[in-house]
Amino acid sequence: MSDLSRRPAAAVVGETVPHESAALHVTGRALYTDDLVARTKGVLHAWPVQSPHAHARVTGLRAEPAYDVPGVVRVLTADDVPGLNDSGTKHDEPLFPAEVMYHGQVVCWVLAETLEAARRGASAVDVDYEPLSALLTIREAIDADSFQGVRPTAGHGDVEAALARAAHVFEGETEMAGQEHFYLETQASLADVDDAGQVFVQSSTQHPSETQEVVAHVLDLAAHQVTVQCLRMGGGFGGKEVQANGYAAVAALGAALTGRPVRVRLNRTQDITMTGKRHGFHATWRVGFDDDGHLVALDTLLTSDGGWSLDLSEAVLARAICHVDNTYWIPDVRIRGRIAKTHKTSQTAFRGFGGPQGMLVLEDVLGRCAPLLGIDPLDLRRRNFYVEGQETPYGQPVRHAARAATAWDQVLDGADVAARAREIADFNTAHEHTKRGLGVTPVKFGISFNFTPLNQAGALVHVYKDGSVLVNHGGTEMGQGLHTKMLQVAATALGVPLSRVRLAPTRTDKVPNTSATAASSSADLNGGAVKDACEQIRDRLVEVDAGRGLPWEQLVAEAYLERVSLFAAGYYRTEGLHWDADTFRGTPFKYFAYGVAAAEVEVDGFTGAYRTRRVDIVHDVGDSLSPLVDLGQIEGGFVQGAGWLTLEDLRWDTSDGEQRGRVTTQAASTYKLPSFSEMPEVFNVTMLERAHEEGAVYGSKAVGEPPLMLALSVREALRQACGAFGPAGRAVDLASPATPEAVYWALDAARLAAGMREPAGA
Ligand code: MTE
Ligand code: HPA
Ligand code: MOS
Repeated sequence: MSDLSRRPAAAVVGETVPHESAALHVTGRALYTDDLVARTKGVLHAWPVQSPHAHARVTGLRAEPAYDVPGVVRVLTADDVPGLNDSGTKHDEPLFPAEVMYHGQVVCWVLAETLEAARRGASAVDVDYEPLSALLTIREAIDADSFQGVRPTAGHGDVEAALARAAHVFEGETEMAGQEHFYLETQASLADVDDAGQVFVQSSTQHPSETQEVVAHVLDLAAHQVTVQCLRMGGGFGGKEVQANGYAAVAALGAALTGRPVRVRLNRTQDITMTGKRHGFHATWRVGFDDDGHLVALDTLLTSDGGWSLDLSEAVLARAICHVDNTYWIPDVRIRGRIAKTHKTSQTAFRGFGGPQGMLVLEDVLGRCAPLLGIDPLDLRRRNFYVEGQETPYGQPVRHAARAATAWDQVLDGADVAARAREIADFNTAHEHTKRGLGVTPVKFGISFNFTPLNQAGALVHVYKDGSVLVNHGGTEMGQGLHTKMLQVAATALGVPLSRVRLAPTRTDKVPNTSATAASSSADLNGGAVKDACEQIRDRLVEVDAGRGLPWEQLVAEAYLERVSLFAAGYYRTEGLHWDADTFRGTPFKYFAYGVAAAEVEVDGFTGAYRTRRVDIVHDVGDSLSPLVDLGQIEGGFVQGAGWLTLEDLRWDTSDGEQRGRVTTQAASTYKLPSFSEMPEVFNVTMLERAHEEGAVYGSKAVGEPPLMLALSVREALRQACGAFGPAGRAVDLASPATPEAVYWALDAARLAAGMREPAGA
């Protein structure tokens, strides 16, 4: 292959083009998995029987009453599974459980002619439970010593010795909530079986190959008997990286048993009560600084809330551990991690994949310690940035460290931060009951899957005799613009206009053994594969042309007549990676994506309500493959992060009552998502210039997840504003999410410390 990162003069990559499905999205014509139901004859509908207990043994199950409901065709139970009764690849999550491990877990499924008949059938199924005790919080799990999976440690140096000699040592705890994905399209699949017993599953999945693998093991089939297709997703955000598999398996099992197409599509309540979320985390920490505010040492123990099964929790924890350092050099550091096992949904991938949780810990530490050190939090952060070549706690030298500093300076300049800080101070002096705050935070996010083997991808490119081009690749489209970028890559590599290239839906029979569309790496990986396939074809065409400079269509026609192959399979793997999971050391990331955000908020002292007045972002996307797509990813990622940190308050019933373990935030009415009214009033996004990334496809960088963590700036701005209600030099503890209620308690504590009001009850 030619140089991966070099961009030809007339490149379609880098052009500002709309998302390839934008017109279909906005006109409602875009087809999603469940839209296919209306186009399919004889579909059976599935409804789950959900557990009313967080933890219980299933002591009896009578399906017969369901068959008395008109329209009910089949009840699926554990006895019907010809293969492995498990919905994952770790084999710790039975599809039809004998012991339910969370409130809402599905015990069995009812298939019927209509959705309503399936629903009524499900309520007729008679299940006996023997309730058992349930752990619902990280603290309860810690007290009960309930953990699952590995317990890694990363670090370098001698933490104890460093803490002993540090001029200033602080310790504390940091806790943060999880997050519901709330993709617009809930989990969906539609399966059918042909005359030879081959299974075809349409699934809203980020990982068609693993969906194929799970369907195959449930049905006891070989992989080549199962084909999975993903048309597109109405959002995945990590929630469909593995969690789509079980629903695809249920649809496929139903189709295999009835010989009819079976549709599984969760309604919103089912989706929220059944599927995993971002992991909440708890951290304890001790930190040391010298007199100049340089980090001397950090010792931290992260505990994530994994829920009832392992799922991706180990990989999420690994990424969390690898992101505690963010952009900061810590000479002596130890980061330990463990995964609590609780009786909740199995928490899973969510944009950032543990990175946000890891980063929040040290940003929280810096935000809380800055006033105690008497150093402005902006200075404290900037002072501790990595310099080129220093090693992360997992042993990877930091390359392009200066980009964080460049982005930082650019944000401070462009957003006029120094002048605005003075204005804010004046405003706060003048206003007793309203305070403003400014937060600036950096992001350094490692790009590649931590687990090295996943960093490979394939593509299949066809050029037809008329010169039109069809591209297949292993990645899925979930709104992030991957297909748009792949079209641009193919057009660039072949040297044809964008209009000559079409992209086909993702299918396991076109490109096998793919990795999940995840880790923000899909454009890097699939882009490398598409480019490889296109260049094989182009090289053959160059020979046919033999310097004549024929127009594309003529060249293709001539190549066909000369019996030159016009299609190719492309392959790409990321070079230079290695990772030792046992020592937790290596070079897991190809490169880092950098960014910096400055956020300004205004907080109302009577209610804790706040608004985001202004946000300025400088973000590093390398040489952008598709500027409009990248802009959307930066804005969307930031807003989703701000939702996690300030609005979205995921709750479970932790009482000892009947409802213990039930997710109580089951709808948009009780789970507050960001909407237009929470958008920053001024929102400036700039892409870092002269940011060409050597060794990545056309010099570009991954963008899907990193901007989410820029939202930490909003949290730090809120902390500053709360602090302004109290005396200087006082640490402000702020809960996460920093809902208006949490902000109120933080500012009220500050006010109390300032003696501005009597303590309650005095
Ligand atoms: N953007 C949209 N619109 N919808 C999504 O579901 N998922 C995010 C991000 N951006 C997502 C999104 C997540 S979690 C990841 S890992 C990346 O997109 C995956 O796509 P990529 O590898 O092509 O960046
Ligand atoms: N991100 C997303 N998914 C993953 C990862 C990761 O880093 N590692 C394994 N699966
Ligand atoms: Mo994204 S959390 O890696 O699907």
